[in-house]
Amino acid sequence: MSEQGHTSYLDLTGKRVVITGAASGIGLACAEAFAKQGCRLVLNDLNAAALDTLLEQMSTRGIDTVGQDGSIALQSTVEALFARADESFGGVDITINNAGISLNRPTMDVSLDDWTRAIDVNLTSVFLCSKASAARMLPARSGVILNLASMYGVVAAPERLPYCVSKSGVVMMTKALAIEWAESGVRVNAIAPGYVKTALVDELARAERLDLSKLVQRTPQHRLAQPDEIADLALFLASGRAGYITGQVVGVDGGWTAYGYI
Ligand SMILES: NC(=O)c1ccc[n+]([C@@H]2O[C@H](COP(=O)([O-])OP(=O)(O)OC[C@H]3O[C@@H](n4cnc5c(N)ncnc54)[C@H](O)[C@@H]3O)[C@@H](O)[C@H]2O)c1
Repeated sequence: MSEQGHTSYLDLTGKRVVITGAASGIGLACAEAFAKQGCRLVLNDLNAAALDTLLEQMSTRGIDTVGQDGSIALQSTVEALFARADESFGGVDITINNAGISLNRPTMDVSLDDWTRAIDVNLTSVFLCSKASAARMLPARSGVILNLASMYGVVAAPERLPYCVSKSGVVMMTKALAIEWAESGVRVNAIAPGYVKTALVDELARAERLDLSKLVQRTPQHRLAQPDEIADLALFLASGRAGYITGQVVGVDGGWTAYGYI
């Protein structure tokens, strides 16, 4: 596929796309996928060095990209990120609330600090970025917000309490904002991946908090997802092709949540 493949089908050329947590995994795959569609990118990541490298690579390739590092759980980072979108591109058309952290441990080992951090990064950031997005999208009567939830926002897993609770909050925020903003032309949807081959999963496997062979066995398709399989859905949901889809939580889990047998 060319650097700008499928542009006519999705018609995303020139769209201004904010992506949080863009320097790795699913966020990075989304940045690449939207860049291929000729979008202009406004990228955030906590990892300033990785974000800088990405911004440099993008600009070498002639992709219109600006960035803002810092934790997206902080109001100050959110304000700076969206101010950058305003200064550079005059606003935002699509926001992908992707930044997130895992927290896999028995609930009795979860401290209040752990709990607060997971809720701040996984849930409060989505609230802050959704408000900042809507401040630009509602007056324009147009825009798309995509939230990276998880299948664990829909079905539960043990020893992941802050993760499951924060992601189920993302699911409900998606529905509540979708119906509040529907008549203003803003669509809000969530993507609920199963296990995706990213640094997040690799680190959990290395720390022996995940058994990858068991996960593969439990998944009806018997493999993990690749990050670009999540980005492909993001492209479709962000495009006018999904114009009547709002308030939905779309699973990309190889059949995991459908499976209820032994
Ligand atoms: N990988 C999976 O199996 C999986 C499954 C379901 C849902 N998800 C969700 O998808 C999203 C992306 O996950 P991933 O697997 O690509 O993770 P990842 O760890 O590979 O990448 C996450 C990126 O977010 C950045 N980040 C972390 N905290 C941040 C903060 N406070 N502010 C700004 N950036 C921050 C990290 O530096 C990193 O670059 C997360 O919300 C995650 O919960 C992932």
